[in-house]
Amino acid sequence: MTYATEDNITDLAVDRWGTAHDPRQAEVLTSLVRHLHDFAREVRLTEGEWMAGIQWLTRVGQISDDKREEFILASDVLGLSMLVVQMNNHFGPGATPATVLGPFHIDGSPPAPYGWDMSDGIEGTPFFITGTVRSVTGEPIAGAVLDVWQADADGTYEAQLDVDEARLRAKYHTREDGTYCIRSIVPLGYAIPMDGPVGDLIATTDISYFRPSHIHFLLEEDGYERLVTHLFAEGTPNLDDDVVFGVKEELITPFLPHEPGPAPDGSSLEMPFVTAHYDFVLQPTAR
Ligand SMILES: [Fe+2]
Repeated sequence: MTYATEDNITDLAVDRWGTAHDPRQAEVLTSLVRHLHDFAREVRLTEGEWMAGIQWLTRVGQISDDKREEFILASDVLGLSMLVVQMNNHFGPGATPATVLGPFHIDGSPPAPYGWDMSDGIEGTPFFITGTVRSVTGEPIAGAVLDVWQADADGTYEAQLDVDEARLRAKYHTREDGTYCIRSIVPLGYAIPMDGPVGDLIATTDISYFRPSHIHFLLEEDGYERLVTHLFAEGTPNLDDDVVFGVKEELITPFLPHEPGPAPDGSSLEMPFVTAHYDFVLQPTAR
């Protein structure tokens, strides 16, 4: 029997967790143990600091529910989410890049026809997004799903409100020629939720806790890689210091203001509105 010492405890723990039945799980867990132990040794972790960390993680779990995803937020602000996204989405040249899912996506958004207004009377500047979904090889993709979600004109998501119905989210489909048309309102850039443990931690630093104005997309179609991405408004504040590291050059697009008049969905508006045009390019799945 070998009892634990400061010198051998890492090897003992690695041996134990290496017994995981699934080889990949054994690889992940033994590496996690090594890195956790190295981290504790490197910073000479005190018992008080260890307990503070445990209590912080406990609060992250306690504040989370089916709508509030504090662990995703923690992963986002630590840069881990974007690292994992980038390691796992090496699309070819010309494909629209992926970025973080973020903590506010809600499954099961309602289906929406071409040009449908997903703002449904919520106050804000009308906003039209049009474009085509196509393959890197050029052909348009019919029937692709665009699962869209966004903040309102105050920077608030449905997940942060106590509402029963889908709010500022919908699933659009491309037409036969690959085109899509979304009507909504212009989203405001926003502060991530600062009323929980992630916010408490950020408040101890000089980190900007704002995100630039953006709208979220999750694109899916058989035969193509699933694409989780955003469109960011060109010139909007915080493009350079997005708190979740989500901005990519290719995803910055002009949000163009218009005077009252004909709109992209064929209607005529009596108030000013904003348009964005973006072609999403999907990567075919490897065969
Ligand atoms: Fe967002």
